[in-house]
Amino acid sequence: MKKKYSGFFISIEGGDGVGKTTAIKSLEEKLKQNGINYYLTREPGGSKISESIRNIILDKNNKEEDPKTEALLYAASRRQHLVEIVIPRLEKGELVITDRYIDSSLAYQGYARGIGIKKVYLINSFAIDNYLPDLTFFLELSPQEGLKRISNNKRAVDRLDQEKESFHQKVYDGYHILIKKYRKRFVVVDASKTPDEIANFMFNKILEIKQK
Ligand code: TYD
Repeated sequence: MKKKYSGFFISIEGGDGVGKTTAIKSLEEKLKQNGINYYLTREPGGSKISESIRNIILDKNNKEEDPKTEALLYAASRRQHLVEIVIPRLEKGELVITDRYIDSSLAYQGYARGIGIKKVYLINSFAIDNYLPDLTFFLELSPQEGLKRISNNKRAVDRLDQEKESFHQKVYDGYHILIKKYRKRFVVVDASKTPDEIANFMFNKILEIKQK
């Protein structure tokens, strides 16, 4: 399908604890050093309404949250963020990088929570109107390694971090189904490398694919 915009849309995905935040910081430095303009945003959140929805979803006290409610809230947050933040920038020709997008919902809610990838795709296609990323980086690290990193970093634990190891394993397996399904847009990144190496790899891929 022909793109509806002149910009370039990238999503960065991965399980919990894979070091996405650090890798993105290094990528930002690399883009800045090379004078490449970009807009970095994140999901769930990235706009006022979407951040409010994020607080409901990730609140540790919301233990009764139903999986379908969770999926709908992520999709609602995504819609608002897309319309308010992402689309206007893509239309102006900008490079937009989002920390998580639709594939997080497909892997976490669709596969790991067991709603089904197809069903979650359905509500998300209503939310995103065909705005799929041009390129999706998946930070590849075993769930065991990811969980180790979370406990070593001692970062604030949210509702999803509290899930058992089996949940994180399913998230990982879910992503692998998506990588096979969407071969064209997925690029797998070895997240066991240093942040600098990861950033270099992503940076070179961005240049390569943007120029195509
Ligand atoms: P966040 O603190 O942003 O974690 P991370 O640094 O790992 O991105 O929390 C986001 C959490 O929400 C994370 O555990 C993944 C989860 N998530 C979903 O389950 N579905 C979604 O659609 C999105 C965007 C995130």
